[in-house]
Amino acid sequence: MSRDIVGILEDPKITKICAPMVRYSKLQFRALVRRYDCEICFTPMILADSFVQSSKARDNEFTTNSEDGPLIVQFAANKPQDFVQAAEMVAPYSNGVDLNCGCPQRWAMKEGYGANLLSKPQLIKDLIYQVRNRIPNPFTVSVKIRILKDIKKVVQLCQTIENAGASFITVHARTPEMRNEPIDLESLKILRDSVKIPMIANGGVKSLEDAELLYQESRCNGVMAAGGILTNPALFSGHSNTPLSCVQDWLDITSSMSTNFLTFHHHLVFMLEKVLPKKEKKVFNVLQDKDSVLTFLEDYYGLRPKETNSSCEKIDFVFQSAANKRCSKSETLNNDGLSNLFLENLFVS
Ligand SMILES: Cc1cc2nc3c(=O)[nH]c(=O)nc-3n(C[C@H](O)[C@H](O)[C@H](O)COP(=O)(O)O)c2cc1C
Repeated sequence: MSRDIVGILEDPKITKICAPMVRYSKLQFRALVRRYDCEICFTPMILADSFVQSSKARDNEFTTNSEDGPLIVQFAANKPQDFVQAAEMVAPYSNGVDLNCGCPQRWAMKEGYGANLLSKPQLIKDLIYQVRNRIPNPFTVSVKIRILKDIKKVVQLCQTIENAGASFITVHARTPEMRNEPIDLESLKILRDSVKIPMIANGGVKSLEDAELLYQESRCNGVMAAGGILTNPALFSGHSNTPLSCVQDWLDITSSMSTNFLTFHHHLVFMLEKVLPKKEKKVFNVLQDKDSVLTFLEDYYGLRPKETNSSCEKIDFVFQSAANKRCSKSETLNNDGLSNLFLENLFVS
């Protein structure tokens, strides 16, 4: 698979993309969805300033390996210097950086991150422009926005983003006030027609049919899924619910890459939401340790992880912190560090 993101997006066919998801779109989950026709993955949103300042934050927030591409690293930033430095740090290990301009959470709005930036086009321009000037193509610099009630403002914003040198724009076609209601397709189409750079459509995709319809109706270059792909990581390959092969893949991936229990279990809870009967779900969703989960899956489905000699070295982690440390299980592989605790539950409604 080519890692030229713009090239992939410009290919005249639907590009299938896994959304940035705090706590969830981590390396293990990215490896899973890539097995089911997902072409481009985003990391969870990472705070650029702590990423730049702290090697602990870097080790907690960003892990990757040589199979993990094409990959976009998403940052929350409000200072060009932080965004540029963070982008330079991840550039050797990824294919682009993305600026979060959509997070509607109160803390983010208060700190001047996420959707707060939608009213600061000059700052967004600066953030994009400076990264673009420092890191050449084909490394991408992109922006993920939400829409506003005043669509003219968003049209101007998209044009500002394009003129600043952005490679593409992702539009979550809901306003910051909207939760799970249907997306505003008409506004999305207006935005699509307002710029020449590739655009990714996001919102409400729960199946391959939804993705194809959104692709056709919006005339965007790609379609991104978040909630839908958490519930069914095989969504883009046409499965209407999580197939058991996907649960098996999750067991294999997480047994070959050391994975903390919460990540391991939460994903299974999502994946089995529409698959397990209600009574079994009540039992499964409150299991407290990995052995109980494995026993449940073996008893109920006859599934168990394939035998592997899992070790950190085998997974070929390539990102190293500024201190140039080798990956060690206690550091790099513990993905629920300080910043994740801070961000915990922010997006889950
Ligand atoms: C659990 C969860 C975590 C999310 N984290 C992020 C994030 O880190 N960055 C971001 O831009 N959007 C984040 N979002 C928003 C999604 O990327 C996406 O824009 C939104 O959920 C709409 O897509 P959907 O209707 O397919 O869920 C998150 C959404 C969910 C459900």
